[in-house]
Amino acid sequence: MTIAIEAPAGAMIAGEQAQSRRSPLIAVKDVVKVYPTVAGDAVLALDHVNLDIESGEFVCLVGPSGCGKTTLLRLLAGLDTSDAGTSSLAGKALNGPSPEVGVVFQQANLLPWFTVMQNVLLPLSVGGARKSEQLITQIQALLRVAGLEGFENKYPYELSGGMQQRASIVRALARDPKLLLMDEPFGALDALTRERMNAELQRIWMASGKTVVLITHSIEEAIFLGDRIVVMSPRPGRIVRELKVDLPRPRVSTEMLGNPVHTALAREIRMLLE
Ligand SMILES: Nc1ncnc2c1ncn2[C@@H]1O[C@H](COP(=O)(O)OP(=O)(O)OP(=O)(O)O)[C@@H](O)[C@H]1O
Ligand SMILES: [Mg+2]
Repeated sequence: MTIAIEAPAGAMIAGEQAQSRRSPLIAVKDVVKVYPTVAGDAVLALDHVNLDIESGEFVCLVGPSGCGKTTLLRLLAGLDTSDAGTSSLAGKALNGPSPEVGVVFQQANLLPWFTVMQNVLLPLSVGGARKSEQLITQIQALLRVAGLEGFENKYPYELSGGMQQRASIVRALARDPKLLLMDEPFGALDALTRERMNAELQRIWMASGKTVVLITHSIEEAIFLGDRIVVMSPRPGRIVRELKVDLPRPRVSTEMLGNPVHTALAREIRMLLE
C-alpha cells in the first residue's frame, strides 16, 4: 500500500487515463431520492440532481442544512441507492461500497473498544492488507500530520470530539483511496486546527492526484479547497450553481483574505445560500 502523501503528482494508470478522457470519474444523472417517513408520507431529498466530477478534481458541496448533501454523498459512497436516475464511478454503475472509495462521515464513528491505531488498521485488515512495519510507519506519519502522535494506543473515549474526527480522517486516508468523500470533516475542530487540516488536505490532494468531494458549511473552506463549488438549494436538493475557483495553488489562507477573486466568489455563494 502507498500512502497518498508519498505518491507522485497526478499518478494514474494507463487504463484510468483512457477512462478519464472518455468520461468523468463520477457521473450522476437525473438522480432522485425519496425517504419514506414513519408518518407515512415521503421526503423528497434529491430532485433530479446532475453532477459530473473529473478524475483528480476537488469538488466542494455547499447548501443549507437538510438540503440533501449527505444523501448525495451516501449515494456516491455506494451506501444507499437512488429512486430514479443513475450514478456511476469510473463508468460502472454504483451498486455498493468500493475499496477505491474512502469516506469521512459527519461523526467519527470509531469503534469504542479499539484503540486509535486499531481503528485505523481495521478497514485495511478487512481489505486483506498485511500489518507490516512499513504500513505502521505510514500510519504514524499520517497521525503526526493530524496532531495525534502519541495517541495511537488511546481509546476513543480518551480523545476529544475533534481528535476522534481527525482519527477518522486518518482511517480514510490510510487506505489510500482514489476517491475521498468527506462530509463536514472539520466541523468539530477549533479554527486553527481546521486551518491546518485544510492546508494538509490540500497538500495531500496536490501530491496524490486523488479525487475529493467535500461537504462543508464554511464558504471560506470551500473556496480555499475547491476547484469547483457546487451549490445546492434548500430541500428538495437541486444543484443551483457550479462555480469554478480560479485561484492558484497551493493556496495560503492568510493570502486569501482581500483577494478580489475570493471576495467575489464568497459574495456570490452567500447570495445563493440566502
Ligand atoms: N434515513 C432517512 N430517513 C428519512 N429522512 C431522511 C433520512 N436521511 C435524511 N433524511 C431527510 O432528507 C433530507 C436531506 O438530509 P441530508 O442528511 O442529506 O441533509 P444535509 O444537506 O446533509 O444536511 P446537514 O447540512 O444538516 O447535514 C432531510 O430533510 C432529512 O430529514
Ligand atoms: Mg449532512
